[in-house]
Amino acid sequence: MFTRLLKEKRLLGRELNNEREDRRVEKRKTDHIHICLNRDVEAKKITTGFEDVFLIHRALPELNLEEIDLSTEVFGHNFSAPIMISSITGGAEEALKINASIAEAVEELGLGMGVGSQRAAIENPKLRRTYTIARKKAPNAFLAANIGAPQIIRDYTIREVEKAVEMIDADALIIHLNPLQEAVQPEGEAFYSGALEKIREISDSLNVPVIAKETGAGIAAEDAKKLKEAGVAGIDVAGAGGTSWAAVECYRASQRGDYFAEEVGKEFWDWGIPTAVSVVEVVQSVNLPVIASGGVRSGLDIAKALGLGADLAGFALPLLRPAMKNSEKVKEKIEIILHQLKTSMFLVGAGSTERLKETPLLVLGKTAEWLKMRGFDVKSYAKRGG
Ligand SMILES: Cc1cc2nc3c(=O)[nH]c(=O)nc-3n(C[C@H](O)[C@H](O)[C@H](O)COP(=O)(O)O)c2cc1C
Repeated sequence: MFTRLLKEKRLLGRELNNEREDRRVEKRKTDHIHICLNRDVEAKKITTGFEDVFLIHRALPELNLEEIDLSTEVFGHNFSAPIMISSITGGAEEALKINASIAEAVEELGLGMGVGSQRAAIENPKLRRTYTIARKKAPNAFLAANIGAPQIIRDYTIREVEKAVEMIDADALIIHLNPLQEAVQPEGEAFYSGALEKIREISDSLNVPVIAKETGAGIAAEDAKKLKEAGVAGIDVAGAGGTSWAAVECYRASQRGDYFAEEVGKEFWDWGIPTAVSVVEVVQSVNLPVIASGGVRSGLDIAKALGLGADLAGFALPLLRPAMKNSEKVKEKIEIILHQLKTSMFLVGAGSTERLKETPLLVLGKTAEWLKMRGFDVKSYAKRGG
């Protein structure tokens, strides 16, 4: 009798702890959304490097703006334009709305999207609907599941990772790499020892492509080579110059009066490899599809990224506010970006994304200096085409 009561008490205690943890995860997700909506969370001193990339104007493009074809095939999927919306969220009520709005827009426009980290739904099945809404609203779009590297190392079996993919009938799995955020977040899990081996295991076992993605600090050539060798099918550089996770955590720390964490976050606000630099480091080191993201804010940025060799481009922060409203607002924002991309292609005389990748461009300033010091080739971009 006594042991039964003790067991029941322990079970109840565990359930309460789980519930408390679920509430904490949901609160953290909501905090992230609100901070990104209401505070200036972008890098301040570091920029993407796209300002150093110049496409060359052609006064005789010899094509018509309306004929420009934005379509591209990546990961065996046809995209109407080279855009894959970056992973944002899931696991909270507001996330349901955000994922629904983005998915609806992406479906209509023939693009791709990633959902946010699915950890919340793996741990609490009640939250699955905040992710499954994406597939419901986007039955044909390219959808990527999302899991963090520290979780695949410590918490999940391959079967659980497969379940995340099945949850949204995903076309790919993103494994996000966020050592900066984990290091500056007081409850962070800065465990990266063994990550590559886990990425290899997952890439070997899953029947969808695995994409390794940073979250705003970029990917260096050295890591791109290791990731390719571990079997990933694509790399999303998510470089520095856009949303800074150190900034987000700095605001969170300040809100709860945590001076220690605030000071750590502040110091790393502008940490990382600028996006344009990271794109070149990765495309010149591995032969894999590359997604350019992190501070991508316009169709002209996307044109430059593709010119540097990326296959797709992504952005997160610019869609947060529109997605809180509805899918029409998301569509409106993306359509402006698509028109800017088309205009850039018209002005360099590139009628297709393949042609854009061969168009000459200049890499100047700090971006060129960084790349040259690291042994990458910037000259050949200026000379190609003909
Ligand atoms: C509110 C918010 C939540 C995010 N959550 C995730 C996530 O769960 N998984 C992930 O891989 N990236 C996440 N990101 C990072 C983005 O995918 C992206 O890499 C980063 O914000 C840089 O892109 P941006 O400058 O266009 O915002 C999140 C971004 C925002 C703004």
